[in-house]
Amino acid sequence: MTRHLLRDDDLTSAEQAEILALAAAMKEDPFGLVDGGVGKPLAGPHTVAMIFDKATLRTQTSFSAGIAELGGNPLLVDGALAGIGRRESVADVARVLGRQVSAIVWRTFHQSDLEQMAELSGVPVVNALTDDFHPCQLLADLLTVAEHKGELAGLTATFLGDGACNVGNSWLLAGALAGMHIRMSSPEGYLPAEEIFARAKEIAATTGGSVTAVADPVAAVAEADVVITDTWVSMGKEDEAAARRAVFAPYAITGELLSLAASDAVVLHCLPAYRGFEITAEVIDGPQSVVWDEAENRRHVQKAVLAWLHERRGW
Ligand code: CP
Repeated sequence: MTRHLLRDDDLTSAEQAEILALAAAMKEDPFGLVDGGVGKPLAGPHTVAMIFDKATLRTQTSFSAGIAELGGNPLLVDGALAGIGRRESVADVARVLGRQVSAIVWRTFHQSDLEQMAELSGVPVVNALTDDFHPCQLLADLLTVAEHKGELAGLTATFLGDGACNVGNSWLLAGALAGMHIRMSSPEGYLPAEEIFARAKEIAATTGGSVTAVADPVAAVAEADVVITDTWVSMGKEDEAAARRAVFAPYAITGELLSLAASDAVVLHCLPAYRGFEITAEVIDGPQSVVWDEAENRRHVQKAVLAWLHERRGW
């Protein structure tokens, strides 16, 4: 059966750990040159289509470079030109692309469209961000935390700000899979949906982790090992920018708030960042920030995901 990565809990806890270990090995040997190592699993080259219906810097460049490092051919498909769902149905695009390429990486709006692409293309499909989830970002975040803190299980991670965004949802699921204790600190009306909380609680019950909502940012960040935020104005929410900046202001990661976390806490931000809003320059450019490692790790984890999915398809 063809496997996909459409949301974080498409992986079991053991599979998440396996992919993170593979990503660490690929980071050690990025060009697959070490004898008996990771090699070039997309040699041929296999072509991987990358489609972007939303803006991107990190995702496009890290997938392009990573696919090339795996020996594959990264094919950028212009989402505006392809007009998926407008010029042609998702179903027909899926059937066509599945005859041309070995895998599909898609950044789009609706999770249901991504699911249809996976169902009908016949090749592995990877979520490069939808309105609901950003699983590749989370694997990069977890690899980064593991590099700086060691074992993931048992760590406390606090997400501050817009918890109802894709990164917030993904932190609940992926953090629970990793056995972490996830505190979601958002104003009323901006927490992940109850069904995401319920699913994360179900996962956490099997991994020793936990997920809680802690509205007060001061209480939420106390003694945390990892402090995370994301933009307050996700793609598509630009019209709400002023209102969002007002409601989220108490959730900004400032030096004062960060001083309440564990003294060796690390700070994550998936980028792009807006200094002076969700995070101060003092914090993101300060010694506890690991955001540049986090950005680099997108490439390593995505390579691991593609190689892992490719191997399971059995070519
Ligand atoms: N973090 C992230 O996905 O970056 P881009 O939007 O630039 O791809």
